[in-house]
Amino acid sequence: MKFSDKVVYQIYPKSFYDSNGDGLGDIRGIIEKLDYIKSLGVDYIWTTPFYPSPLKDGGYDISDYTAIDPRFGTMEDFNELVKAAAEKGLKIMLDMVLCHTSYQHEWFQRALAGEENYQRYYILRDGRGQGEPPTNWQCAFGGSAWEYVPRLEKWYLHLHDVSQPDLNWTNPKVREELANVVKFWKEKGVAGFRFDVINLISKPEIFEDDTEGLGRKLFADGIHVHEYLSELVKNSGIDGMITVGEMASTDLKNCLLYTRPDSHELSMSFSFHHLKIDYKNGDKWSLMDADISALKKIFEEWQVGMTENNGWNAVFWCNHDQPRAVSRFGDDKKYWKESAKMLAAAIHLMRGTPYIYQGEEIGMTNAKFNSIEQYRDVESLNYYKILREGGKSETEALKIIGERSRDNGRTPMQWSAEKFADFSTVEPWISSPANYKTVNVAAEEKDSDSILNFYKMLVKFRKENKIVQDGDIKFFERENNDVIAYRRTLGDEKLIVICNYRGENVNLTEGNLSEYVADGYKKIFGNYEGLADNLRPFEVVVFHK
Ligand code: GLC
Repeated sequence: MKFSDKVVYQIYPKSFYDSNGDGLGDIRGIIEKLDYIKSLGVDYIWTTPFYPSPLKDGGYDISDYTAIDPRFGTMEDFNELVKAAAEKGLKIMLDMVLCHTSYQHEWFQRALAGEENYQRYYILRDGRGQGEPPTNWQCAFGGSAWEYVPRLEKWYLHLHDVSQPDLNWTNPKVREELANVVKFWKEKGVAGFRFDVINLISKPEIFEDDTEGLGRKLFADGIHVHEYLSELVKNSGIDGMITVGEMASTDLKNCLLYTRPDSHELSMSFSFHHLKIDYKNGDKWSLMDADISALKKIFEEWQVGMTENNGWNAVFWCNHDQPRAVSRFGDDKKYWKESAKMLAAAIHLMRGTPYIYQGEEIGMTNAKFNSIEQYRDVESLNYYKILREGGKSETEALKIIGERSRDNGRTPMQWSAEKFADFSTVEPWISSPANYKTVNVAAEEKDSDSILNFYKMLVKFRKENKIVQDGDIKFFERENNDVIAYRRTLGDEKLIVICNYRGENVNLTEGNLSEYVADGYKKIFGNYEGLADNLRPFEVVVFHK
């Protein structure tokens, strides 16, 4: 099955649309907005979790895999969503969080209560001595990855929040339970799945300290991961469906294995190296300007590397864990429209299946909060503390959180200039940036030159052009530190995409724009009128021949 002509729209239900006036988005909210989603021209809706959860980590802490959290709706609402979406030609993809459960999951509660059978569902170990965890591994949200349970005199592993104990995939019973979860949703008419941090499921056989890092490299793409994944796919009967794995700290070699059709694992993978180009020394909490040369190398490695070896990329800038791309790699003030459009074209004309994250298509920006009280995410709150304890002033810490917080991507969808951005009739669970007055769906639907209409055009363009779906890809302007450019080729047809990542005029290093025209290329679209001698701020030019 090929997904090169498909586009996925990602929804974070908590912040999409509140149908019942409690300040929290819900499943019926998605149903009410299906016409809008359809108008984008996309094929699939991936929604992040709405299963019962204490919501310590935005629902990625599941306490019951096969039910709906009443705050988001009922199973009837879910059935109706699948049906109503299908009537409009839209399909639903669900998020499977199978690396860990919530501490409130029955399995973990029974493990804590002493049932050995369920203790084997998790990773419980003796410490190294009084008060000393088994290894020095750190969890993703700051602090040790181990938590002591006095009653059991053991430590449990949690690679994420303390409320998210990791499951023990070496136990065949666990693998069977999880395959049944996937099967359950498949049988409910779901068309595909996104697998959360799925490359972290296979832990090392011997647990030892990581002498160089925080442990990640010891358990990312672990020894049995491919075996477990292909078994899960087989036993849940989902081979050939649209599936995407979220791969933390992965590499090309493993993503090829995850996504090559002959592996029978997944149809595509998310990798994140291109979203770390503004991490100083690899540290998310150290600010730095985006390194465009590094970005170009990463795109090239993944685009060309996956193509040459029959793998498949999911291409994206934004999701519920990332700050907004336009604020991060563009300019969300002076060149808001231009930079949002350039970033969109850069991704949508690449090889891979594009994902649009709610609000990205209208150029939603970072949250622009000015006090820590406005943040909700466990990671942001933990790191604010860590930064303050490490000596940063309140202003410095707020600046870092302001740029890096996952809440930047979780503010309510901006539907109109009405109160609460028309997301809800009451104060939402998290507030909106003030720009909802101008950055919103209603305004952009009316403006033919809007970011929203540019996204719609890009989706349509992919569907109508085989060269975007299946063309080969080669990068050029490789020594240029301001521009990322690539050429797609299919038979005699060529498509050239040239993107200026700077808020100023820049020159090409390999010739100039008019030479393409002289060479028979036609500019088919871009984010500025006509052609200038050089590239204008955040300009994208798309040539065709
Ligand atoms: C993934 C999710 C993120 C969550 C984490 C732990 O990275 O996208 O939101 O916190 O996994 O489940």
